[in-house]
Amino acid sequence: TGVPVPEPRPRVEERATRPSDVETARVRMTEAAFDYCAGGAGDESGMRRNVERLDALTLTPRVLRDVSARSTLTELLGTPLSAPLLVTPMGLQALCHPRAEVATAAAAHSLGLGFTLSMFSSRPVEEVAEAAPDRLWQQVYLLREREVSWSLVGRAEQAGARAVVCTVDVPLVGRRSRDARNGFRRFDTAPPAIVQDPCFVDLLAHRRRRDPSLTPAGLVAELFPDPAVSWADLAELRSRTRLPLVVKGVLHPQDARRAVDAGADAIQVSTHGGRQSDRHVAAADALPAVVAAVGDRVPVLFDSGVRTGAHVATVLALGARAVLVGRPVLWGLAARGQEGVEGVLRSLTEELDHTMALLGAPAVDGLDRELIGVREWA
Ligand code: FNR
Repeated sequence: TGVPVPEPRPRVEERATRPSDVETARVRMTEAAFDYCAGGAGDESGMRRNVERLDALTLTPRVLRDVSARSTLTELLGTPLSAPLLVTPMGLQALCHPRAEVATAAAAHSLGLGFTLSMFSSRPVEEVAEAAPDRLWQQVYLLREREVSWSLVGRAEQAGARAVVCTVDVPLVGRRSRDARNGFRRFDTAPPAIVQDPCFVDLLAHRRRRDPSLTPAGLVAELFPDPAVSWADLAELRSRTRLPLVVKGVLHPQDARRAVDAGADAIQVSTHGGRQSDRHVAAADALPAVVAAVGDRVPVLFDSGVRTGAHVATVLALGARAVLVGRPVLWGLAARGQEGVEGVLRSLTEELDHTMALLGAPAVDGLDRELIGVREWA
């Protein structure tokens, strides 16, 4: 008694770009759906570390550089962007809002930012592409039946997708304690649109001859993930599409080099938002070595733990060419649909612009390693 108790630090899922969105999302969503989105692997320390390591990096500004005219404009793999900011692929957005990925994609489109559609989206790529013409990237996993993955890549190309993102950090799904506690079966609760893919439909019919009780969700759970995926499969994906290929979920610089040798057009450094392991290196700690390994050959992209425009500036200063944002977008979507996502993305770009002014960097290519922390100045 009498000893002041310090305020608890906010829980990590409350480190949203717009904290009030999280509170609204918590009320609007079922507890199991909220936990599925908010949660991470194991004790969630890996998820927290992503944010903490970004917070730990400070910036040393330059002054008297005339920052009256600033621009966040950039271009990435042929996609012009109003800022180096994209929505990262996240599945099953119908858990957050009935308009799901259509609302998220429309928000990114209205601000001139990028949007990546998950293979396990709630809405089909053809519909989402209409909401985000010219800026849709399609994410894929290599399923146990590769034909289903190739079929989705073909449909995305047809629908006008500008890049294919292959996620390689899910040989198994991480052990997520919240989902275990809630008994949450994501594909049963929110069936992904892939179950309507013609190749998937054929496969389901074929498998049902042996097992008539097999459900679409049951088949998805059988096909994903495939722990046997290897470099040979990446080579095959490379040979099957002419779209730029992003390899997502790389943390080791030697893997980054190998992916670029295999034809990757960009590398996305990511810990899957801490959803795979609580012992993975924080994404921000892994980034510099990946930039050193391949940054002169291909753009390096980054996700995991980005919550503020200052985080975006920090990641760009570490050498990433663009930043992808995850959970804060879901909270905006759940709270206020398309408008909510626009609010999150607008906050991030405005804060990036503000941070650039304070750092003396009028354009995004002025954000470089010289601005990070305290160094031995020449
Ligand atoms: C994801 N993520 C993900 N990644 C991917 O390649 N395909 C997918 O289908 C999904 N699905 C998914 C669902 C949900 C609910 C979340 C939160 C995340 C991972 C995602 O792309 C990204 O790596 C992290 O979300 C980034 O971390 P932050 O910004 O959420 O901390």
